[in-house]
Amino acid sequence: MNERSDLHFHPDTCQIAVIGAGTMGAGIADVFVRAGYTTYLCDASEAAVNHAMEAWTARLKKDTERGKITSETVAEWEARLLTCTPDTLPQVQLYIEAIVERPDAKQQLFDRLEELAGGNAILATNTSSLPVTALARTLRHPERLVGMHFFNPALLMPLVEVISGEATHPDVAQSIFKLAQHIGKRPVMVRDEPGFLVNRVARPYYTESLLVVEEQTASLEQVDRLLESRGFRMGPFRLMDLIGVDVNFSVTSSLHERFYGEPRFRPSRLQARKVAAGQHGRKTGLGFYRYDPPSAP
Ligand SMILES: NC(=O)c1ccc[n+]([C@@H]2O[C@H](COP(=O)([O-])OP(=O)(O)OC[C@H]3O[C@@H](n4cnc5c(N)ncnc54)[C@H](O)[C@@H]3O)[C@@H](O)[C@H]2O)c1
Repeated sequence: MNERSDLHFHPDTCQIAVIGAGTMGAGIADVFVRAGYTTYLCDASEAAVNHAMEAWTARLKKDTERGKITSETVAEWEARLLTCTPDTLPQVQLYIEAIVERPDAKQQLFDRLEELAGGNAILATNTSSLPVTALARTLRHPERLVGMHFFNPALLMPLVEVISGEATHPDVAQSIFKLAQHIGKRPVMVRDEPGFLVNRVARPYYTESLLVVEEQTASLEQVDRLLESRGFRMGPFRLMDLIGVDVNFSVTSSLHERFYGEPRFRPSRLQARKVAAGQHGRKTGLGFYRYDPPSAP
């Protein structure tokens, strides 16, 4: 990798590719488009890209009708959001990976991106829980991989965790930090520890609530109502449905493993059953609650 002093991202000179057009990728692409960046949204599944684009267009239409944005703005944004497949990914300055939370899939993608990307391009991962250090292990230039962890829904949540792995170049982390500020987010630098900061702190919100329901101390609706009445924006079950029950389960499993079986991070069997049944929350139309039709957040 060359000198790192050239690392800054300006919308006039920098294009972004977001790989993974699911819950997070679609939201992250939206953030960059609104901030002025030409953005490519890519997914292995054509249906996923189409679904993301349809949901995005429908939301913009609704916002235009409500007078929140003008049709000129919509036309500008639409011109900036492009789609592609993994085979037609272009060379851009920043690749943000938001695919399935599986280390093998992510590593394989980064190996491919390294082949494709120009010398100074940065590779970022939106992983919730996988070690950035390990994801960079097979790269020839692990210093260019960094965590850029958005929260759900990406458009609304200001926090972005910027995670440096063992090999991440400090200038790479710094440039991502500045970029996050530039797009209107509130970034924090965090260490590459299990769950980083937020997912570690938040874990008992889910695991304890799942235990309460498994033990039949209260119903999931009661738990949600109680916590929402005490000031939480969303109860744990509604929140898991928004996040994706499968994604939330992967994060808990990963923390449990990385903390060497720490009991407070033990994944729930109730949640495992939901995952096995394909009841992944809003995106599948059924999770802890039913959604008709299935909806992106
Ligand atoms: N859901 C959340 O609340 C949340 C929050 C922060 C971070 N994350 C992280 O973001 C990432 C994505 O999560 P999500 O909730 O958007 O998942 P999701 O299941 O909604 O979407 C994942 C998408 O990746 C695509 N995909 C899978 N393998 C691919 C590949 N090899 N190449 C291209 N596309 C591929 C799938 O087709 C799917 O559309 C995960 O790492 C997750 O841990 C999720």
